[in-house]
This record gives sequence, structure tokens and C-alpha cells, in this order.
Amino acid sequence: MSTFEPNLVGFLCNWCSYAGADLAGVSRIQYPTNLRIIKVMCSGRIEPGMVLELLEAGADGVMVTGCHIGDCHYTSGNLHTMRKFALLQKLLAKTGLEPQRIKLEWNSAAEGQRFANLVREFTDQIRVIGPNPIKAPNPEQRILLNIRAAKEAADGFRLRALVGKEEKLATEGNVYGEKVAQDEFNEVMEQAVETEFQIHRIQLMLRERPRSVKEIAKNLGLNTRLVLNYMVALRQRGWVDIKDAVEGTPLYAAQ
Ligand code: FES
Repeated sequence: MSTFEPNLVGFLCNWCSYAGADLAGVSRIQYPTNLRIIKVMCSGRIEPGMVLELLEAGADGVMVTGCHIGDCHYTSGNLHTMRKFALLQKLLAKTGLEPQRIKLEWNSAAEGQRFANLVREFTDQIRVIGPNPIKAPNPEQRILLNIRAAKEAADGFRLRALVGKEEKLATEGNVYGEKVAQDEFNEVMEQAVETEFQIHRIQLMLRERPRSVKEIAKNLGLNTRLVLNYMVALRQRGWVDIKDAVEGTPLYAAQ
């Protein structure tokens, strides 16, 4: 029988979820002790990069809980949480880590039993998946690179700005007053997530040492032409430049 005890982190908003956890405690409701709780004023405070950083540090799972929709004490904080969590799911899907390692739930101050159930279910779910592969003695370098790239992409300006503008684009429209349909927005977001993820993977590789486009393409399993396009974008941002050339082949390095 497995002796694996998951290390879980839970972000709980102060006003509903933490109060729900408190109620579970004072009501003496039994639930697993695997969850390390971090209290935040609102679930909207949680950035995708914070969750990815915890997974990179070896957490087996991360749960974010907030007030039910319509009950956020800052009016729309949990609506922001939902959008940010959708971005987090997209990025996590690219890393190779299991999507079930993250969870978003709403829990009110009166739902002590529900909070205990959520923790029990999440703990059982992670027990089934097993330990975070990053904690292995020789973790797969590809997953490490991916999770770091996902974190940097999540913290970057482009994805944060897109998530921040999602509601405005749907309700008020873009600078020309044109409203953006959800499908259209999702498509833009998918494309932006893929580009930012790949760009940060390349940048991380180039921080180690200079490399050619061909070598990067081979290591990342990408098309050479695509890597060349990403390299143009990276050079425009001033993040990489040509460092050297070997037999006429340029070697790029992170700036
Ligand atoms: Fe609970 Fe905003 S205060 S989610």
C-alpha cells in the first residue's frame, strides 16, 4: 500500500472560505491534514504564476477557494479569479503536469462540512495521481523547463493584460467600440498562451548558453521556421540577440 501523503497548498479568501475552514475546525469536523492554508483577502489576489511557482517548488496540488459567485466581498474579485484560473489551466496543460493538480472551488462561511469534503476529495484525487514528478531525484528536465516557462509567461505583461481586459472587451468592446465575442477572445487567448509559452521556453534555454535555431527546434520538438519566428519576436523585445556565428550559423543568447 502506498505511503504517499500529498503536500497540498490551499489559498483561502478571508471572508468566506477561511471562515468555512474555521467553522469546520470549531465544529470538530474531521478531514485530512495535508492542506497547508494561506489566507488571502480575496481569491482574486491569486495570480497563475503563484500557483505555478508552488508546483515548481514541489507542491503536489494547489487549491484556490473563494466566496460563491455574487458573494465576493470586493464585488467581482472571484470573477477575476475565474478568468485567471482559466489561464492557469491553459498554461498547466502545456507543462506535462496533470491538470487535476489544481482546483478552484467556492465555499461560504456557513459551509464547514463542504470545506472538509473538498479537502478530502482533493487529497484523495492527488493520492491517485501520485507525487509531483518535479520532486523525483532526477526530475525530467523537459517538465522543469516547461513549468518555469509557464510561470514566466503567466507573470508576463501580455497574458496578464489579456486576462485583465477580457470583461471589458466583451462588454464595452475594443478601442473601436467593437465587442469581442467569447469564441473570438478564446482563440486570441489560445494563440497568445502558445506564443508566450514557447517564447519563454526558448529564452530559458538561451539563458543556459548560446544556441542555434536548429538546436532549439530539435530540443523543443518545434518546427525550425516557427522557432525563427519566435526568435524575431524575442529580438524585437530585446530579450535575445545574436552572440556568435559558427560556420555561418548564428548562435543566439539571452540578453
Ligand atoms: Fe472571497 Fe473575494 S472576498 S472571493
